[in-house]
Amino acid sequence: MTAGVPPTVQWTGDAGGAVRMIDQTLLPGEMVMLDCTDVECVAQAIERLSVRGAPAIGCAAALGMALAAHRSDATDARAMLADLQAARERLAATRPTAVNLFWALGEMDRVIAEHADEDPDALRAGLLARAEDIVEDDLQRCMAIGRNALELIPPGANILTHCNAGALATAGYGTALGVIRAAHEAGRDVHVWVDETRPLLQGARLTAWELVTEGIPATLICDNMAGRVMSQGRVDCVVVGSDRIAANGDVANKIGTYTVAVLAAHHGVPFYVAAPVSTIDYDLASGDLIPIEERAPEEVAMLGHRACAPVCPDVAIHNPAFDVTPADLVAAIITEKGVARAPYTASLAAVRD
Ligand code: MRU
Repeated sequence: MTAGVPPTVQWTGDAGGAVRMIDQTLLPGEMVMLDCTDVECVAQAIERLSVRGAPAIGCAAALGMALAAHRSDATDARAMLADLQAARERLAATRPTAVNLFWALGEMDRVIAEHADEDPDALRAGLLARAEDIVEDDLQRCMAIGRNALELIPPGANILTHCNAGALATAGYGTALGVIRAAHEAGRDVHVWVDETRPLLQGARLTAWELVTEGIPATLICDNMAGRVMSQGRVDCVVVGSDRIAANGDVANKIGTYTVAVLAAHHGVPFYVAAPVSTIDYDLASGDLIPIEERAPEEVAMLGHRACAPVCPDVAIHNPAFDVTPADLVAAIITEKGVARAPYTASLAAVRD
């Protein structure tokens, strides 16, 4: 989306067919493309956050299924289905919280069901076509989210965001950063407070980089500074993305989002969530049912390659990757189908695909 920046994740015919992605673990220092030529590579890329952010994980998983079919040497439907089943299980086991992963795998299941009795080449073609549709569709949905949010972002707004819900977290444009991009493109003269987002610094490494690359005014702060700038009246609204939204409007997002939402409520700052409908899990009644990923203790104990704490097992370390913000702290959920407000059970049902 940004001139000169390659797509976050895409199919390439190079290397005999591969899933190509920006290796986000190396940003902002280096822009390195990773070509995965097998499903194990895609799964490991998702696990170590080379590709991350809920919609981008969904795109990678869909392309990973297309890759599994493309690389399978099956000559009959039965052998192909066995290969696809193994690929699906591996991809589904990578990260538990972002529902877009499971949504995308469900979309691929539908293609498999449609072509189950056909020649393996029909499956190969069908899966690749649907995966590429999912990627293109995600980009369009993010742009629509940006347009729908314009009614909420006043000229000159100071917007605080947490983690990275930008082009790097999606097929392009972003959800929360899509809102910010759209406001910037509309000449709203916005400024962004960027939470660094410990432990893995997606805010500092990725969001700050995206904003600088786009020329959008931004100020980086440590996570523990958000309360200070809010208390000074220097934040007009918060906009974040989400990994999974329960049917009642409870929102799972990067760890620390809940803290920001509580601070925003205390200071009377509206807290907005931007997400495509594929992030809403209509099967979960409330946020306490959302599985929260626990990640390696080293992510907390290390800053880059340097220890910043006694190493396990000298000190116990808890590292939940996400938290849940209750719906009553959310002023609005901005989707590609429109802006949903409380009561969310009804307003989110109204935007269902
Ligand atoms: O662990 P990550 O980097 O995948 O977490 C990403 C987030 O929490 C994002 O805010 C969320 O996925 C929304 S991305 C549009």
